[in-house]
Amino acid sequence: MAATAIKISPEDVAQASQRSERIPEPCVVVIFGASGDLTKRKLLPALFHLEQAGLLPKEFGIVGVARRDLGATFAEDMKQGILEFGGVRDGAAKLEEFIAKVSYHAMNFDDDAGYAALKSLLEKYDKEHGTRGNRLFYLAVAPEYFSDIIHSLGEHGMAHPEQAHVRVIIEKPFGHDLESARELNDDVNKVFDEDQIFRIDHYLGKETVQNILVFRFANGIFEPIWNRNYVDHVQITAAENIGIEGRGPFYEKAGALRDVVQNHMMELLSFVCMEPPVSFDAAAVRYEKVKVWRAIKPIDCADTVRGQYGPGIVDGKPVKGYREEDRVSPNSQTETFAAFKLEIENWRWAGVPFYLRAGKRLQKRVTEITIQFKQPPMLLFDRAMSGPCKEIQPNLIAMRIQPDEGISLRFGAKVPSPDMTVCPVTMDFSYASAFGTSSANGYERLLLDAMLGDATLFAHRDGVEATWSLYTPVLESWAASVPKGFPNYASGSWGPKEADALIERDGRSWHKL
Ligand code: BG6
Repeated sequence: MAATAIKISPEDVAQASQRSERIPEPCVVVIFGASGDLTKRKLLPALFHLEQAGLLPKEFGIVGVARRDLGATFAEDMKQGILEFGGVRDGAAKLEEFIAKVSYHAMNFDDDAGYAALKSLLEKYDKEHGTRGNRLFYLAVAPEYFSDIIHSLGEHGMAHPEQAHVRVIIEKPFGHDLESARELNDDVNKVFDEDQIFRIDHYLGKETVQNILVFRFANGIFEPIWNRNYVDHVQITAAENIGIEGRGPFYEKAGALRDVVQNHMMELLSFVCMEPPVSFDAAAVRYEKVKVWRAIKPIDCADTVRGQYGPGIVDGKPVKGYREEDRVSPNSQTETFAAFKLEIENWRWAGVPFYLRAGKRLQKRVTEITIQFKQPPMLLFDRAMSGPCKEIQPNLIAMRIQPDEGISLRFGAKVPSPDMTVCPVTMDFSYASAFGTSSANGYERLLLDAMLGDATLFAHRDGVEATWSLYTPVLESWAASVPKGFPNYASGSWGPKEADALIERDGRSWHKL
């Protein structure tokens, strides 16, 4: 059963994304850490797609900054990245023109002369390309460089130019606990005003994540039942089948909680749970999100599970365990899986459990939010003795964030027969079939918004600190005790059995994904 009666043409979709009021002012995007994977795989392809969609200003440039002396090979490398990871839509005609706007500046991030040279290079850009002094600095570097770069930009007069705007995007992780996040916030705020700072979480750039708000607040029928009177519980799963992809040193220090739970999963949770904002602008949306995070009850360690993958089979191929990965300690205690039961103490959600799980090397890649509703007060109809209709299944709204982006609603239907047997069926909305387009990589929307100065889909200082306040005690208590039985799940499984027990002890189970 498909819920796609209204067909939207590709032209309608293209038109919707090309509203002229969304073209930013001229500017130069300066990417620190440009030799890293993120630039090549995500940022340049995203910027090129914006260019193809006619959403970049004519006066525009990109300067990659990194320590290695890459010279002219940088632009060529970026071109290959766009071809390989971006998928060049509508032919490569604009690619050469776009690449001509890309240049490279080699410097150490603690080298004063490097910043002075960068400043001159950018001023030259302004003269040659008409970029008018406007800058978007993107910090795609390891977190230990954030503060140095920010301070140096300030010291070299690049943070507050007259009659031009400067914004700075800071990649995650934003701190590694509450104290470090506060310090970093204080540090950044010494140089930049809060409205210049864009703390990026690429989940907020995903169409399907933004669609949670549209689903809830652009429709009249869901919101009245979106509360503790009707919802039994909520599950959020962010499962990946990949491992740590050569990022051993980073992951050893991070672990699943810091890598995806404190940020991506908390963003998903806030969109599911927040009250309707008074308007769709940065202040109103961020205000409602922070209210949700602050209402979460302190997490009891008995409501947490951590896991680490051992060897196993993923997609039919044998893969090694976490402790055998490159640059990972053979005795590592880092978690590659985390699950939590959370409770939100407010009028809307009191008493509704939220079960979250995230992990690497699980059976498949799937991110999904399911809202399970309460059963009707009494059951009038028959159940079959066996098969899928054996139990009357509760209603379910499943929001598929990725892949196969879409939303489905499960409800009971009468099986054609002389009796009244009820069987669960689904009504499905799929992005691909409704809009004929796969959703863009989240960076397109976020880069565009940052250039436009719209921080609605970026994290705010208060929000970052609220989520760290919640998880820092968990991290401390995890650090104080050696996890039992690591590795405790096989690659290719659904995680440790304790994660099943976490939900099963409440008489519930994880939905099959
Ligand atoms: C990143 C994490 O933030 O998100 C990665 O550092 C993770 O470890 C990735 O794989 C997941 O993003 P996505 O968009 O593939 O779900």
